[in-house]
Amino acid sequence: MGYDNSHDICSNLKNEQDSEFTRMTDKVVSRRGFMAGMGALGLGAFIGLSPIAKSVQAAMSSSVTSKLIGFKPVPASTADSVVVPEGYKATNLISWGDPIFANAPEFDPSGKAPASSQAQQFGDNTDGMTLFPLSDDRAVMAVNNEYTNNDLLFDHKGESMTANDVKKAQNAHGVSVFEIKKTSKGWEVDRSGKLNRRITANTPMQLTGPAAGHDLLKTAADPSGVEVLGTFNNCANGETPWGTYLTCEENFHNYFGTPDESYDVPAEQKRYGIKPADKRYQWSKFDERFDLAKNPNEPNRHGWVVEIDPKNPESKPQKRTALGRFKHENAALMIESSGHVVVYLGDDERGEHLYKFVSKGKYDANNQANNRKLLDEGTLYVAKFTANEGELKGKGHWIELTFGKNGLTPENGFNSQAEVLIHTRLAATQVGGTTMDRPEWVAIHPSKKSAFCTLTNNKNRGNKDNQPIGGPNPRGSNKYGQIVRWMPANGNHTTAEFDWDLYVIAGNPSIHKEGLLAGSSNVTSENMFNSPDGLGFDNAGRMWIMTDGKYSNKDDFAGMGNNQMLCGDPETREIHRFLAGPIACEVTGLTFTPDQKTMFVGIQHPGEKGKPSHFPEGGESKPRSTIVMITREDGGVIGA
Ligand code: FEO
Ligand code: CA
Ligand code: CA
Repeated sequence: MGYDNSHDICSNLKNEQDSEFTRMTDKVVSRRGFMAGMGALGLGAFIGLSPIAKSVQAAMSSSVTSKLIGFKPVPASTADSVVVPEGYKATNLISWGDPIFANAPEFDPSGKAPASSQAQQFGDNTDGMTLFPLSDDRAVMAVNNEYTNNDLLFDHKGESMTANDVKKAQNAHGVSVFEIKKTSKGWEVDRSGKLNRRITANTPMQLTGPAAGHDLLKTAADPSGVEVLGTFNNCANGETPWGTYLTCEENFHNYFGTPDESYDVPAEQKRYGIKPADKRYQWSKFDERFDLAKNPNEPNRHGWVVEIDPKNPESKPQKRTALGRFKHENAALMIESSGHVVVYLGDDERGEHLYKFVSKGKYDANNQANNRKLLDEGTLYVAKFTANEGELKGKGHWIELTFGKNGLTPENGFNSQAEVLIHTRLAATQVGGTTMDRPEWVAIHPSKKSAFCTLTNNKNRGNKDNQPIGGPNPRGSNKYGQIVRWMPANGNHTTAEFDWDLYVIAGNPSIHKEGLLAGSSNVTSENMFNSPDGLGFDNAGRMWIMTDGKYSNKDDFAGMGNNQMLCGDPETREIHRFLAGPIACEVTGLTFTPDQKTMFVGIQHPGEKGKPSHFPEGGESKPRSTIVMITREDGGVIGA
């Protein structure tokens, strides 16, 4: 979803940085040493960057010095196409409305297709995705279909909704699961795949973990508080080593409403943005499950991370309440050396928080039944960052969100662990978690020694009492975003303490010659971007950054072009533009084949809000969210 959707490396690496810093002070200022040293220097260094130093960087930035990065960077683009480096090509895998079953109807661009067609087709607004290999030439993909654009989905552009239209919209949401096969022409969707499945806003699911069955999760239709229908606004994702897919429920609040505008929304739900007015999707007008006055607890059943077994189309998706309830972006999961599962989770809203879950049980590669329960029991934490004033690095710790601890007690409105989890945002505030600039994706470096989170932008920073400027959120009215990195104590992600710094501060050095609006030293007029959102690593440790920002290409955003994908070297901090998307798109969703020779990238909402895109088919065709496949003409590894 768009720019304003927020509704209303390792200890080795650190040592290397320190040595770079030493070299810099010895006046051996290679570009590489200069940039790495900048990270260690902090705010004063960014502000003190002289115009000369900045222009030297701009001149040097066209050459790639990173040993990790082997492609020739692409320029910013305003074209209605996917631009990739020389020697690379982009082809389409699947677009919104394409059939994923053998007898399903083809896409009908009229906007008049019935709900039943959409139930058998790829959903709208492709987002997070994971490829699960089945063999060398076959895999199953699980892909989030985040939301719908009424003006593209309906011939009436959402202006005269019917019950069937709501059903169609619900069928365009959720998750698409489909097999792909490798042919002589490359990877393609296998419409006959036995695992093909659509999961929609109406698919039966189960709430599991500490909050399952709590009174706040019970409705007239489900007095058990365990059986829930559907998932929607599935933003980004995660995957587990036991072969399951994690889909993250983000802006669920927009789907609820009630005709009674005087309906008094409870304070706990107001914190999540629930309002009586339902102008956007209008589900509550035709499906009373979404009518707040009739089903006041239904919103509590959404805002979770859902675990799906993509290899069993009969399996019931599980909403894992132990991971907390908020506007989940993605779920970055790793197994610590102790066997504990660690999951990092961002809550994408201005001034919300960054979280970590640590499982109680341990991963056992030989006990899949055990592994399927690991996300049901554990401890949730919220991040607290500290820094000396004016420094762009510091320390931090994880504060436990456990009933009875840290003020999470009845006196403060928390009566059980279930309530702590259902009202995770309130619990985070109670314990004093740091308010962040919209935490989007978290990605864990393959060395497992560091993790990164995109903080996309935040116009409220410095303008609200609870969102002071400082620490990892160093700019007021933050329009460009930044990426924070943390290194857990002892290289162990289950520990409470960490060190942090900023990998990049996005900015526009062409418009702003110095200061933080110019961005950090690894941002130049040639690689600039705004609003980092999607984030992921490949096996070699290349960092892939996807943007969901302003694509006006003017004023503060001049020279940035359309939304894009960049490749970063975590060690040298070099960043190069790898891909530029079509008009008015967001680039979101990333997965690879195991050989890393095909990269799948999501192009979401080209032509949103009536912008003149006809991607991917061109001519006068309707723009459609599409997964593209990037390959090299020489068959090599992507990015190398
Ligand atoms: Fe769905 Fe926060 O992006
Ligand atoms: Ca996103
Ligand atoms: Ca976003």
